[in-house]
Amino acid sequence: MTYLDKAFDLSGTVAVVTGAGSGMGRVGSEVLAEAGAKVVVADIDTARIDETVAAITAAGGTAKGKQVDVSQKASVDDLVDFAVAEFGRIDSMLNVAGVPHNVDVVDVTEEDLDRIIGINLKGTFFGCQAAMRAMLPQGSGAIVNVASSIIDLPFQGYSVYGMTKAGVTMLTRVLAAEAGPHGIRVNTIAPGSTVSGFIDRHRFNDKGEPDPERLERYVSNMKATSPLGLMGEPIDQAYLLLYLVAPASKFVTGNTFRANGGNARPW
Ligand SMILES: NC(=O)c1ccc[n+]([C@@H]2O[C@H](COP(=O)([O-])OP(=O)(O)OC[C@H]3O[C@@H](n4cnc5c(N)ncnc54)[C@H](O)[C@@H]3O)[C@@H](O)[C@H]2O)c1
Repeated sequence: MTYLDKAFDLSGTVAVVTGAGSGMGRVGSEVLAEAGAKVVVADIDTARIDETVAAITAAGGTAKGKQVDVSQKASVDDLVDFAVAEFGRIDSMLNVAGVPHNVDVVDVTEEDLDRIIGINLKGTFFGCQAAMRAMLPQGSGAIVNVASSIIDLPFQGYSVYGMTKAGVTMLTRVLAAEAGPHGIRVNTIAPGSTVSGFIDRHRFNDKGEPDPERLERYVSNMKATSPLGLMGEPIDQAYLLLYLVAPASKFVTGNTFRANGGNARPW
């Protein structure tokens, strides 16, 4: 055990995870806690926060919950202040919170445009800013932002979502250049389609009634984008999150990592 013990050991470190109440953020938080990190579990949904904290605690890990609305700068600043007050430092910031949107360009409302940009793009920007404030004096840290396969594949209806995720990817690359000299690494993951709360909107028809056929159509479309014929699970992204904040990735920054079933084409 010369290499692996150290490579993925997060003992004594502190991680802040947004969107930690569900999907990749939740499973990612559990994996980081299992690797030894103290985790600040942040989400807009307090019931979900409690569930994630309970799961981590039950498994013997350390976690504290904090409500955040990532679209609000003051709320994100509060989150990072909370983490530093509770645990003394921040070693990793995982900006996972995000929301879906699929509407053709001609039908997008200005309200929706502002809402999706506010959560997915500004929310990630605020997370990076707040984390940098805490990490710069430490001279160390790792930030991971979450984009999507959409950055490579122009799915119909995903203009607004795609703009936000392409923006997240560029934010990462620029911030990596700024942060690197201070010992801080910044990377993006660009997940492929993953079974999580994110696909809940496909479970119902336009009247809000359960619609298993609609879900089935969506799932088979998504599987068809992957040569493996699979949709992803949150754990597929959680392992990448672990890698990107762990000592194993000490030479890795400014990059985009794709656990996406090799998807190479829109449906
Ligand atoms: N699931 C997919 O197919 C998929 C694919 C590519 C990228 N992504 C991205 O992965 C990330 C995580 O998605 P997921 O699949 O785990 O989704 P999810 O819906 O299961 O979890 C997202 C979490 O973010 C929280 N959230 C929403 N708005 C928030 C806000 N304003 N402030 C704080 N928290 C907020 C939700 O309450 C939820 O707990 C998102 O950024 C998403 O865009 C998802």
